[in-house]
Amino acid sequence: MKTKIVILTGAGISAESGIPTFRAADGLWENHRVEDVATPEGFARDPDLVHTFYNERRAKLLSDSIAPNPAHLALAELATKADLTLITQNIDNLHERGGSPEVLHMHGELTKAWCTACNHKSPWPQDMSAHSPCPSCGITGQMRVDVVWFGEIPYHMDRIQRAIQEADMFAAIGTSAQVYPASGFVQLARTAGAKCHEFNLEQTLASAAFDQHHFGKASATVPLWVKSL
Ligand code: OAD
Repeated sequence: MKTKIVILTGAGISAESGIPTFRAADGLWENHRVEDVATPEGFARDPDLVHTFYNERRAKLLSDSIAPNPAHLALAELATKADLTLITQNIDNLHERGGSPEVLHMHGELTKAWCTACNHKSPWPQDMSAHSPCPSCGITGQMRVDVVWFGEIPYHMDRIQRAIQEADMFAAIGTSAQVYPASGFVQLARTAGAKCHEFNLEQTLASAAFDQHHFGKASATVPLWVKSL
């Protein structure tokens, strides 16, 4: 039987692909306050600002300058060797572009749209505005990026919890462990008896809960680990 492995990735795995992490020293996300661009209240206050913020992120993600790095590619290879559940907090599509067959995007996806009028979700590679019509119901002014904001419930939680409870091994890659509920997954995995690995440049708030630490750039440490399994 294949080993059951659950992986949680965060912004650090995409940093070497050119996508900045969230927690810069100034506490801002690309010069914006989190409350302004990543909360339902911020969107209600200034939809144009929020649309522009995600339009810029989306255009950059889909530009030629951004590509998956060896850590994304190694996790795609791991899916062929193990019974893998790949969970990401990232809203980019670099795991998919790296070849991973299934990715649970617990914080949603930058390249998807959600119509809050009819609840339809659709692929959305283009810019979005307060005037964008829903491709399903045609109503304008109700579209938003399909990203989970602060104060909203992350996606796939039932499936994630089930997978962690059955895991033989859990690994957190490039996440600062500061955002609930992902920050608690390692405790759940420990309780389930899984061996826990942390991949990061440095210690995090959750480091003490892991059995093994792989310090360094994910593009180097993750491929080495996958090869060793
Ligand atoms: P953070 O920006 O909080 O943390 C990134 C982590 O990656 C840090 O611990 C870095 O040390 C580490 N790191 C950076 N470069 C790395 C590299 N090359 N190799 C390995 N590790 C590296 O990002 P997340 O933990 O993903 O939520 O943040 C979690 C959530 O907070 C995000 O999904 C987002 C944000 O608020 C929402 O948007 C709801």
